[in-house]
Amino acid sequence: MTTQMTTSNAPTAVTDRPAPARPLLEVAGVTMRFGGLTAVNNVSLTVGEGEIIGLIGPNGAGKTTFFNCLTGLYVPTEGKVAYKGTVLPPKPHLVTQAGIARTFQNIRLFANMTVLENVLVGRHSRTREGLFAAILRGPSYHRAEAESRERAMELLAFTGLAEKADHLARNLPYGEQRKLEIARALASDPGLLLLDEPTAGMNPQETRAAEELVFAIRDRGVSILVIEHDMRFIFNLCDRTAVLVQGQKIVEGDRETVQNDERVITAYLGAPLEGATAAEGTTAAPEDTQ
Ligand SMILES: Nc1ncnc2c1ncn2[C@@H]1O[C@H](COP(=O)(O)OP(=O)(O)OP(=O)(O)O)[C@@H](O)[C@H]1O
Ligand SMILES: [Mg+2]
Repeated sequence: MTTQMTTSNAPTAVTDRPAPARPLLEVAGVTMRFGGLTAVNNVSLTVGEGEIIGLIGPNGAGKTTFFNCLTGLYVPTEGKVAYKGTVLPPKPHLVTQAGIARTFQNIRLFANMTVLENVLVGRHSRTREGLFAAILRGPSYHRAEAESRERAMELLAFTGLAEKADHLARNLPYGEQRKLEIARALASDPGLLLLDEPTAGMNPQETRAAEELVFAIRDRGVSILVIEHDMRFIFNLCDRTAVLVQGQKIVEGDRETVQNDERVITAYLGAPLEGATAAEGTTAAPEDTQ
């Protein structure tokens, strides 16, 4: 079929739009049920290359559960998660190897290891040296170890933690522990970084610095999907934002679209939504999956 492009008064606005980003993460119809509770209900979402996408919603909306479904911590009851066009197996280490890294809502650091050692742990999925090389400690092992250290130190400098490399993780102030989690996640050389409430517990200055850090990460070619309750942070950063309420994605779009949506306003004011399926006010997850 040939297309005729001869019409002189054809609208030009379409060609002025930025080209859509190539899809990196494609989530199709993900549902997660725990017994009678539908924590995530038929959620689809795409993150394109170079995008920063926000995920917001009231407490218990299913945001962390959604992240757990993307990263193989949970096997979704229904739905598919694809990265770079390939369906991801629901196993955390395979998801990391494929190129997705994450931080946790409840900070998960090795408290009694140093800052540098924590980042080296994150590097593990990218080092090819096997068990025998580690036992024999031959030249290739030492070379790989030196490279890992160099990369880890570079990431500590990038996140502003280089001076603290030898400190124990547990002695870092809260805001720096969050940064260390990000440095550790970046150590696996991801193409997509999932951040679960990266500014929780940070003061306003630390939060503004965290915004700069997220932009800097994106400028390194890493796409970002971020959960946050701080709306200023979300709307300063994100190309698009999706809103989850009681497990369902009720709207997705730019700042205007989200802020002016009646359902979003209602959800944040706490009025019950019609047709909602997830229970509210249930107790916390039985295991630490936050
Ligand atoms: N492993 C689990 N077993 C049973 N219920 C669970 C489990 N994990 C999460 N839930 C439930 O799923 C719902 C969604 O929880 P989730 O932690 O995903 O919410 P959230 O949007 O991240 O909330 P917050 O903003 O408070 O972090 C809650 O009702 C929670 O109790
Ligand atoms: Mg959460």
